[in-house]
Amino acid sequence: MRNFKTLDDLDLNGKRVLVRVDINVPVQDGKVTDDTRIRSIVPTVRDILAKGGKPILMAHMGRPKGKVVPELSVAMLREPLETAIGAPVLFAGNDGQSVDAAASRTLEPGKVLLLENVRFHAGEEKNNADYARELATLGDIFVNDAFSAAHRAHASTEGIAHLMPSAAGRLMEAELTALEKALSSPERPVVAVVGGAKVSTKLDLLGNLIKKVDQIVIGGGMANTFLAALGKPVGKSLCEHDLADTARAIITAAKEQGCEIVLPVDVVVAREFKAHAANETVPADQCPADAMILDAGPKTVALIADRFASAKTIVWNGPLGAFELEPFNAATNAAARKAADLAQSGKVLAVAGGGDTVAALNAAGVAGKFTYVSTAGGAFLEWLEGKTLPGVAALQA
Ligand code: 3PG
Repeated sequence: MRNFKTLDDLDLNGKRVLVRVDINVPVQDGKVTDDTRIRSIVPTVRDILAKGGKPILMAHMGRPKGKVVPELSVAMLREPLETAIGAPVLFAGNDGQSVDAAASRTLEPGKVLLLENVRFHAGEEKNNADYARELATLGDIFVNDAFSAAHRAHASTEGIAHLMPSAAGRLMEAELTALEKALSSPERPVVAVVGGAKVSTKLDLLGNLIKKVDQIVIGGGMANTFLAALGKPVGKSLCEHDLADTARAIITAAKEQGCEIVLPVDVVVAREFKAHAANETVPADQCPADAMILDAGPKTVALIADRFASAKTIVWNGPLGAFELEPFNAATNAAARKAADLAQSGKVLAVAGGGDTVAALNAAGVAGKFTYVSTAGGAFLEWLEGKTLPGVAALQA
């Protein structure tokens, strides 16, 4: 149930609207290499302009830790933003001490103002009250459109929301609506795909998911840890042998909760960790001592496809194999295509998120076919862990 305000609930006409956005995009040699996050905030900014509001964008880039780091200036995003939004975007600097209040006062209707990296100021990450108040003086209304930064209790994501009328932007609204449907009040059965390198980084996530979903497909290096914990040989595979007890405890807890853990039944093994390394497919309990598991095999993909076919909801985080190396992206691609087809035919709601996941789905060419792909990395994981995201909680206060 929606318990936060949106752009529809506030009168924006003539108001300076401080919008927290997450345009923390990958940049190489001064060029944006993936503009997804920039494109994602456009509906919010255009909507504010259409309602007569004056958008003032607050953003971070990287982790400058309260210091002015010129390479992390968001000034380089001014032009890409202007192109994406289709309106003039002005830029206001920040010397790390104070924000440029004059620029916000003189902003004309129809124009957008981009403030320098909010993390250049030491008060941002400390959620310092004075800094939040200073930011709040720049506008009349606060809009948070940065779901992907909502796991941070910072001045521009959390502190400021308590100081002025606040609402969720369109992207925040879309993220919360999709995630609510996927896990808070989902249609069952729910299948979660949890992949990636290490179990140790996903313990809280697994602990939460076994209480909420009907099946968890475990893939990637994580699956090796589970296989080893069940006494299966994993050769030279990436594996956290010291987590064997933990993995077994997760399997037991899942059983108690009525959640099925789906592990690989066959695996693709190679002797070298490199693209196109010679490889073979073997049963999951027959990894040779000198080989490493780099992907799930076709029987596992068929098993996953079978679970997907009877599911109503799929939540995906993490690849099933070493997806960055061909052909060890095969299981991830095939399973992702299956989920995408089911989502396209309206049979399941398929939601995905997390940095590597989105890269893997993009590489498989299916990201656009999922019901919803989150722009969030860390925030998506914390949401899967069942944690309260401070940036979201502040909007609901
Ligand atoms: C992200 O890229 O996940 C967000 O922009 C948050 O960045 P952070 O991990 O530096 O807070």
